[in-house]
Amino acid sequence: MPAPESLSTRGISAYSLIPMQTIVTESVVIAAAWINRGEVVAFPTETVYGLGGDISSETSIEKIFAAKGRPSDNPLIIHVHSSEQIREVASEIPETAETFIRYFFPGPLTLILKKNKAVSPLVTAGLQTVGIRWPSHPVATEFLKRCNHPVAAPSANISGRPSSTDWEAVYDDLKGKIPCVLKGPQSTIGLESTIVDCSETHPRLLRSGAVSLESLKKYVPETIAATTQKHQQPKSPGLKYPHYSPSAQVKLCGPGFPGCKEAKKSAWIGLSAPPEGVTKTAVCQNPEEYAYKLFSFFRECDRENIEVIFCEMPPEEGIGRAIRDRLQRAAENNDG
Ligand code: TXA
Ligand code: MG
Repeated sequence: MPAPESLSTRGISAYSLIPMQTIVTESVVIAAAWINRGEVVAFPTETVYGLGGDISSETSIEKIFAAKGRPSDNPLIIHVHSSEQIREVASEIPETAETFIRYFFPGPLTLILKKNKAVSPLVTAGLQTVGIRWPSHPVATEFLKRCNHPVAAPSANISGRPSSTDWEAVYDDLKGKIPCVLKGPQSTIGLESTIVDCSETHPRLLRSGAVSLESLKKYVPETIAATTQKHQQPKSPGLKYPHYSPSAQVKLCGPGFPGCKEAKKSAWIGLSAPPEGVTKTAVCQNPEEYAYKLFSFFRECDRENIEVIFCEMPPEEGIGRAIRDRLQRAAENNDG
């Protein structure tokens, strides 16, 4: 646990958390009622579960940051269910964004656009742009339609931990800290949305996800991939923080990896057969299944006290690019 002074220097919300009972419901009506009275609710989407709050209520936004232990300089994505709501939160929608909206909304894509003045700086962490996503998950859509305003939501996990892909993972991380979890099925994609910045001349891929760079370029060929050098400030503020870390050590390897000589309790996840001597394995048929299983596998490994997780790097194409990104970050975070 970090010391309280390090929390304040990282700008984490000072909103005090009183332990509370967390209800788990399958009712979108009950879940939306919590949102409409200024509370926060975890809800399913096709990428990962989100922790939502009403964008028009500054206290609910504060509660999101407090429940997750999230630094306040890391902006939130706004979730919408209609084109009207996109126009409510964005001040300008360039042609490139219109094209992405036409082909990929609703779905696992977030667009960064110039923000409307009315959007609270607490949501955007003071930036003049805003992240907007229209999820395709039917439970998310029904829930969002019953909320009075668009819903700001980061992934529903404690900051730094792997994103939650099922309601049990949400409950493990956030029970006692939020009043309500809207229970749905496991997220079908399993990795967070692709983020594309459309606020400048050329659309720029800031975070890889299920909507691949190849498919973005198919509709808008001038889309470019972000290249952040180590010393530069990333365009997406959240990318500077540790992410996706299980307690176990993550080690990256290629196919045919012979295994670890150290006598540690280890696990393997990848597309190829596991090395000898690992205690827990997930061999995936394709990169989509790898993405779907990755974060829940990390969490299972922690519950089973696995010390080292060997992760096979998939080919750098399609959703493989997003898997590689998350694996690299998970490995960076626990090298020491
Ligand atoms: O799939 C997803 O995107 C999930 C579900 C719940 O929608 N949400 C999610 O939110 O992954 P979060 O907060 O865990 O990640 C959002 C990322 C952060 O890295 C944040 O810095 C970046 O989006 N972001 C948000 N607004 C931004 C902006 N205006 N400019 C650049 N980056 C932004
Ligand atoms: Mg997150």
